[in-house]
Amino acid sequence: SAPSKIPQPPTLPFIGNVAHLDRELPIQGFTLLAQQYGEIYLIDILGRKLIFLNTQKLVNEVSNDAAFRKGVVGSLNEVRYLSGDGLFTAYEDEPNWAIAHRLLMPAFNTMAIRDMMEDMRDICSQLLLKWERFGPDHVIDPSDDLTRVALDTIALCSMSHRLNSFYTENQPAFAAAMTDFLKECYIRSTRPSFMQALMSGTTAKWESDAKFMTDVATRILNERRENPIGKKDLLDTMLYSKDPKTGQGLSDDAIVKNLLTFLIAGNLVTFPVLGLMSFMTYYLIKNPETMRKLQAEVDEVLGGQPVQYQDLSKMPYLTAVIRETLRLAPTAPMRMVKSLEDTYLANGKYFVKAGSSLIVNTWVYQKDPKVWGEDAQEFRPERMLDGKFEALPPQSWQPFGFGIRGCIGRPFAWQEVSLVMASILQKFDLSFVDPTYNLELKQALTVKPKDLFIRAKLRHQAP
Ligand code: HEM
Repeated sequence: SAPSKIPQPPTLPFIGNVAHLDRELPIQGFTLLAQQYGEIYLIDILGRKLIFLNTQKLVNEVSNDAAFRKGVVGSLNEVRYLSGDGLFTAYEDEPNWAIAHRLLMPAFNTMAIRDMMEDMRDICSQLLLKWERFGPDHVIDPSDDLTRVALDTIALCSMSHRLNSFYTENQPAFAAAMTDFLKECYIRSTRPSFMQALMSGTTAKWESDAKFMTDVATRILNERRENPIGKKDLLDTMLYSKDPKTGQGLSDDAIVKNLLTFLIAGNLVTFPVLGLMSFMTYYLIKNPETMRKLQAEVDEVLGGQPVQYQDLSKMPYLTAVIRETLRLAPTAPMRMVKSLEDTYLANGKYFVKAGSSLIVNTWVYQKDPKVWGEDAQEFRPERMLDGKFEALPPQSWQPFGFGIRGCIGRPFAWQEVSLVMASILQKFDLSFVDPTYNLELKQALTVKPKDLFIRAKLRHQAP
């Protein structure tokens, strides 16, 4: 039979479907459209056509590096102004991507990450101490303190640089610059160019945010070159390693772009980590039974001692809770691929032209009832236990992306989140400040809970 037309909401002249975008909370708009149009829909943003994929079946079809490759367009393309051909925002054919990928892969393997455990624990203990000192009545904005953890950890582990965010009252200056910059990246990508041209003030602020962050990265690079520290962190790897294939090193410009990728374009690597920890905090408080079960596992494995590397593989329930949190609330909520050739999806049902932009709508498709059942919207870590996770249909769970452009920082993030969350639960009972709180979302390029406030009380039997 002839292919069906991909459903599209009604458009307006020139601007297409811009009216269907939710500027404050894009994923909310895209979720509503999925409820209305089903497994696939197309929207047109100022002449750029985006095809959204909302089911495991379709996502599985495009999870194929031979036929589909990462697309860097829209907001991500605006981020390039800062991070350029750094790992995250590189176009497919840029040589610096391949070089940095080969250089940095070994720096992110399990053994290398294991060596970062001490630095991670150092930062984590600053959070524990702060919550303990402030006491059980203190109102905590978990995103705020978890941002400090995530930022300080990546800075210490990647470039042995102490940001000391726990010693400042306000959001560190570049965390603020970064948030504003990325928010504007998204808005720019939805603004017609004639309007963009009129908004010189906004553009100037965006450019000065980018310059501020580039200056910080350049300073860190120069300082290190003048004062080598003899520690094999990511910066050291980028400065002194040679690509095994081409024998080339990375240029200073490429190193700065990657430093910005790791540290300061932190919305790409720091924010998903802090988002994950914040969502996990929310789900645990909302599901006290799960929190108690996890605390019991933590107590049994740790026996009152601080978390060690070898403990992490002995906590299957912790793994299940992290997986389930990343399923319901994937903090990198979508990714984009381009089709390399003309192709069909769903057994010939939909025709897709070469070069089309396809959005893997992770936020929506990881709740596909065909895969997860009628309670797909509910938080239930048990569905990730006892071999059930391994038995899922292919690509049902993809919070770290796919294939060659998948997340290089996954073992890093996993170890950090496991360490921090296990340590928090070992020490504290958590509760909402407002017991009736229900999840609300906040989004720039990544997503986190909005207006979530908690209290942390030392546990009676705490060590
Ligand atoms: C790529 C998610 C933490 C570094 C990605 C992608 C996803 C993702 C979905 C693919 C993006 C795309 O296809 O456009 C996450 C999540 C994290 C996390 C959910 C935390 C829970 C980290 C950390 C680092 C990191 C901690 C660095 C230390 C990167 C880099 C890429 C990437 C460099 C680009 C890889 C490439 O294109 O070659 N991440 N990430 N991520 N991630 Fe992560």
